Amino acid sequence: MAAEQVVVHKGLEGIYFDTTRICHIDGQRGILLYRGYNIHDLAANATYEEVCYLLLHDRLPTKQELAEFDAALKASRTLPQPVMDVIRAFKDGHPMDVLRTAVSALGTIDPDVKDMSPEANLRKGIRLIAQFPTIVAAHERIRKGLEPVPPRDDLGHAANFLWMLKGEEPDPDAARAMDLDFILHAEHSSNASAFAARVAASTLADMHSAVVAAIAALKGPLHGGAAEAVMEMVEAIGEPERAEAWVQEQLAAKKRIMGFGHRVYKTEDPRARHLRELSRILGEKYGDPKTFQILQNIEKAMEPMRAKGIYVNVDFYAGSIYHYLGIPADLYIPIFAIGRIVGWVAHIMEQYSDNRLLRPLLHYVGPMEREWVPIEQRG
Ligand code: SDX
Repeated sequence: MAAEQVVVHKGLEGIYFDTTRICHIDGQRGILLYRGYNIHDLAANATYEEVCYLLLHDRLPTKQELAEFDAALKASRTLPQPVMDVIRAFKDGHPMDVLRTAVSALGTIDPDVKDMSPEANLRKGIRLIAQFPTIVAAHERIRKGLEPVPPRDDLGHAANFLWMLKGEEPDPDAARAMDLDFILHAEHSSNASAFAARVAASTLADMHSAVVAAIAALKGPLHGGAAEAVMEMVEAIGEPERAEAWVQEQLAAKKRIMGFGHRVYKTEDPRARHLRELSRILGEKYGDPKTFQILQNIEKAMEPMRAKGIYVNVDFYAGSIYHYLGIPADLYIPIFAIGRIVGWVAHIMEQYSDNRLLRPLLHYVGPMEREWVPIEQRG
């Protein structure tokens, strides 16, 4: 194709590379649907386990189906000993690096690793959904010099994660907050990490390899890393009355305010309202309204940016939820991953089901036909 005819879409902005039945996002109207169900209905009525079933099977489960799915998750929560040994070997690593490494290790010993049938991939996906919380919680305990806390079959997915993380009976409000957070983070169409998973799946690489690609992509501060950066910002501001000036200063210096803006949403991210409310409730419950107030004042200071289509996104209040639940900041991205693993599995399986190798073009703008020069003559 002649050079002048080439149109480069940097960041693949605005490019549709396939169709999907998993998630619909209307960025202009701030609408998010998982398999056709509105995120507001799911946030109000579902559990994370129900949302996982919906995303994997394209329908809500009956009572019996949900009980069987829940049992399958519970049966897969425990990690094989060699993977525990890997976590111990790398206990001083960043939790996202340890998660990525543990998933690689799981991939080497998964009973279905060579089986690429839809049934085997579903089994692998369910195991990964069940194992993510155990990896993150076990690492947190080991790096603090404590023994990992075994999973409990009498606790749901979110409550069991908090139990394994702290070794304390989780407060029902905290468990519900964690469950809602997982629902809100479960899926978001072709975000960078899901796209990375689909690229790997499009080469017919196995489920674990595609999930490792997704974890790697999620780690970046422009994607999953924002929640941690938001809480660093809250720390730096310190007092609610300092928020406005701080934000103005950052914007004047052309700096980005983490937790704002989105490639697709040009209005408020529909997930934000649930996390904002949760942050307000937990701030009051745990006697720390100041963190929430600082976030509110930042949001107010950012209102003029709405003219540029820059609104609060899912990460802005998420960090404060984890902060209120006493979770250390470097676990915020792994917690995002614990919610998002089901979305990645759904995308990997969808890519396998109607695959076309993902291989976009780069427009070459370098020199052409340069003459070879023997090394003796290279000066
Ligand atoms: C997630 O894709 C998904 O679906 C992701 C996610 C999911 O669920 O998977 O929703 C989760 O990753 C949410 C986003 C978390 N990241 C952040 O909060 C980091 C801060 N946000 C930005 O860096 C930015 O908004 C992105 C990366 C999220 C989107 O960037 P784009 O679409 O590439 O937009 P851009 O960088 O081209 O910015 C357009 C303009 C620029 O100004 P100009 O140069 O045109 O003058 O908006 C400005 C930017 O400077 N801008 C911001 C800003 N975000 C964009 N200015 C200040 N603060 C910000 N946060």
